[in-house]
Amino acid sequence: MRNKVIAGNWKMNKSFEEATQFIDEVKGMEVAANTEAIVCAPFIYLTNLVERAKGSNVKIAAQTMHYEESGAFTGEVSPSMLFSIGVTHVVIGHSERREYYNETDDTVNKKTIAAFDHNLTPIVCVGETLEQREANETLSHIESQVKQALANLNDDQITKTIIAYEPIWAIGTGKTASSEDANEVCAHIRKVVADITSQATADKVVIQYGGSVKPDNIDELLQTSDIDGALVGGASLEPASFKQLVEAGNRLS
Ligand code: PGA
Repeated sequence: MRNKVIAGNWKMNKSFEEATQFIDEVKGMEVAANTEAIVCAPFIYLTNLVERAKGSNVKIAAQTMHYEESGAFTGEVSPSMLFSIGVTHVVIGHSERREYYNETDDTVNKKTIAAFDHNLTPIVCVGETLEQREANETLSHIESQVKQALANLNDDQITKTIIAYEPIWAIGTGKTASSEDANEVCAHIRKVVADITSQATADKVVIQYGGSVKPDNIDELLQTSDIDGALVGGASLEPASFKQLVEAGNRLS
């Protein structure tokens, strides 16, 4: 049985005080054995938040990273830096990074490989635009993104990769994909993974849905056959709402 993985993506939000208060408030919450609760925070807060969350069931993730180990990359943060401070997960290829910061399928693949080289679990994002959905290109686009993201990974690494299906038209818009549509794409992702590895490997891969997930629609999404969690932006910013999302994971894991 796959874990339910609930990740809050704060994006570029919260003061230091708000960030620390949030972790203090949620770190005592119950997280079921088969559920994972992850907070994806801005780089500048990670060291402090990892320390604060120590001994709790809340894991701290980065929202991106470079794929190089070190060097002349002004302003960047490397995978080994993240690992050295106790970060466990890293979001790779979020559509906002693809749109505004030149993230490509190639850099997504390099970063996914680099994450495993440094004992970080990648949360790899894929998703189609509204134009692609309307042109009936969703499944082929997602298939291409997944194949490129996972290129040159071994089966063990693919098993550990978290894939987040986030239709771009649903992010921050309040328009959630229906649970049927979201599950159809997540099931397709699992089939693509099975084609490049094996059904046994694909059956272990955690696939999240993201895009306007909230406490009142998460249950329906998590009850489908192939959605194993959620990557949540707006509704993860308030501690009470984040807790409700994790509680849904607890109930359905
Ligand atoms: P949203 O963002 O929940 O605010 O739609 C999701 C995401 O970008 O990961």
